[in-house]
Amino acid sequence: MSGPEVKREEWMSQPAQIVPHENAAALAADVAQRVAELAAQAIGERGEFRLALAGGETPRRCYEQLRHLCIDWRHVQVFFGDERCLSVGDAQRNDTMAFAALLGHVAIPPENIHTIAAERGALDAARDYAGLLNNGAPLDLVLLGMGEDGHTASLFPGGPATESGDAAVAVLDAPKPPAQRVSLGLNTLRQARHRIFLVTGAGKRAALQAIIEGAALPAARVGWAEWHVDHAAMPQVC
Ligand code: 6PG
Repeated sequence: MSGPEVKREEWMSQPAQIVPHENAAALAADVAQRVAELAAQAIGERGEFRLALAGGETPRRCYEQLRHLCIDWRHVQVFFGDERCLSVGDAQRNDTMAFAALLGHVAIPPENIHTIAAERGALDAARDYAGLLNNGAPLDLVLLGMGEDGHTASLFPGGPATESGDAAVAVLDAPKPPAQRVSLGLNTLRQARHRIFLVTGAGKRAALQAIIEGAALPAARVGWAEWHVDHAAMPQVC
């Protein structure tokens, strides 16, 4: 695991809440409930809920559960944590999964869904998305996955985009295909009111263990977060 080391107490001083789950299904149901709770709170307090969806496969079951919960989608603004530079509708795009699992099944106004136009190329799409984010309030909740190398969104260990202060960043060298992506920048993730990680499967255990032991991998650098972790991914921290 690469990445600058920070002392364990520095990382653990950012009170990160680890929420254990027996399996991925239980994790998905619980995170869906948390999203619904935070949505009701945000809409009650500010009239809208600004939610950024995670990509990858882990969140799919959570999104499928969200369809059935009582959320006032008219007041939800949906953003994306990252997007892969593929054609619109490509099965490997994160928004394709989000529409299939959730957005195509709920009464959310189309204008409330802010996809990343990654099909236009990483640089142009990142610039435009940064402008969209800069002109709005902070996100209320960012859902995040974590890769086996400790990346989150499309912020990879040692990647130049990970160190950018921009609201959205172009990633041209992602080690996880496709190489070209657009990601929310680290500051955007940090400025959100809440962060929830969904981490399942034995493949994620080593990265989570490294983070707990102080490795400042990108997933560890987003600030206070709820880490929802299933049994398979849970490190045996002594
Ligand atoms: C992506 C995701 C990425 C993902 C992790 C975990 O575009 O690949 O945004 O950050 O969340 O790689 O992916 P899985 O959930 O598929 O394990």
